[in-house]
Amino acid sequence: MSLPVFGVWLTGGWEGDPGEVWCVPSESPGEALAWYRLNLPDLENKERGFLIPVVHPTARRNGIGRQLLRHAADRAAANGRTVLGSVAVQDSAGAAFAMAVGAKAGLVEARRLLDLRKVPAGEFARLRERAAAAATGYTVVSWAGPAPEEYLSLVAAAFNAMNDAPSDEGWEEEIWDADRVRDRASRLVRLAGVRGYSVAALHDATGELAALTQVEVDPGRPDWGYQGLTAVTRPHRGHRLGLLAKATMMEWLTTAEPQVERVVTGNAASNQHMIAVNETLGYELYPPGWQFCEIPVKPAVRAVPAEGMTDTAAIDALADSSGGQSGGPTTAASNLSRAADNPGQLRRGAAGRWLLVDTGAAIAHLPAAHLGDTGCQRRQAGVLLRARRPFIRAERRHHHCVRHAAAGGTWT
Ligand SMILES: CC(C)(COP(=O)(O)OP(=O)(O)OC[C@H]1O[C@@H](n2cnc3c(N)ncnc32)[C@H](O)[C@@H]1OP(=O)(O)O)[C@@H](O)C(=O)NCCC(=O)NCCS
Repeated sequence: MSLPVFGVWLTGGWEGDPGEVWCVPSESPGEALAWYRLNLPDLENKERGFLIPVVHPTARRNGIGRQLLRHAADRAAANGRTVLGSVAVQDSAGAAFAMAVGAKAGLVEARRLLDLRKVPAGEFARLRERAAAAATGYTVVSWAGPAPEEYLSLVAAAFNAMNDAPSDEGWEEEIWDADRVRDRASRLVRLAGVRGYSVAALHDATGELAALTQVEVDPGRPDWGYQGLTAVTRPHRGHRLGLLAKATMMEWLTTAEPQVERVVTGNAASNQHMIAVNETLGYELYPPGWQFCEIPVKPAVRAVPAEGMTDTAAIDALADSSGGQSGGPTTAASNLSRAADNPGQLRRGAAGRWLLVDTGAAIAHLPAAHLGDTGCQRRQAGVLLRARRPFIRAERRHHHCVRHAAAGGTWT
């Protein structure tokens, strides 16, 4: 994932859902030791959050992942969520972590790869013609970039058809309309400079959208194509429209993006029809896949025991370390006190080494000169990532110093 794509995802997820981003600063300026994004859907699934926690490889197995989970579960609860979903690479540290904290394994999405270098010349045209022979009464249209206004409601129909794809139980269907497509679809194309390609089949008799497939190419990884949505709407299934749209897309892509060598896609193992189309095109399994999982928020909060130092004692310790001076550090401590008025904002790490402090809005109001000075060891205020949300502050207890991260603003 290139940096622009990562930035767009971090601020609004794939589909513009609201969310929160929290970060544990590292000692190296500009780097994060750990972070998470908590997706908080606002249109459907309002009882759910979707969490992606990441700990720097050099800092793993120190309990930070559990701390992130606990903090995120608190934030999820504060936002009225009762279940946290996530996804990890199969058989990875993430999958082991999910099981260790008591998450329930859900759907597996197998990845498949189409190596365009292995596809014989003319193969996609041959497949397109074969599919077209079974798809009379349909017209194929295509566009590059975000959907033109006249196609917005047709694209919405395709998003709604995706509700029929296999998914874990408990997720509400997403209801898309033209406005939602305009505002929230194709975020990477609109905001991250990603090149987007769409191929649709329209039903001649009714003008309805019958099929849509989308592929994106990130200029930062130009040899890869990323398969997005493919959907055939219910009344039009069984006419080889999936193959027609995808074969047309591949033919177009090899001309429009000749440097693309591989296209990657993911499907639920149970999505037999889509897998059959993909295998006809030449896709092959590309393990590992993605393991979805979920955990109710309440047990997730309990995944890290809140033992040891109380919130008040921790705040006192911060105030003490300021040396009783008025001004900066004291202000910082009192602001922290206010932030900690909300129970659950201050936690002690399971291993006793990490103190995660939710600075709330308070830290955003501190002048820069007040950041990073607790009276024991001067530290630069490390502005690691500029997020729309406040950051976690991390204190390494044996150093007796506190590092701060600025909050507020937008991504830069
Ligand atoms: C998953 C991740 C966030 C865990 O971070 P972490 O700080 O190492 O996690 P913790 O130290 O709190 O580990 C908690 C428990 O998870 C389990 N666990 C974590 N990593 C593991 C691994 N590589 N192998 C086996 N078990 C593992 C262990 O039971 C561990 O407890 P223990 O160390 O006392 O045995 C980190 O590995 C990561 O960033 N992975 C990539 C992103 C990702 O997959 N995110 C998770 C999506 S669910």
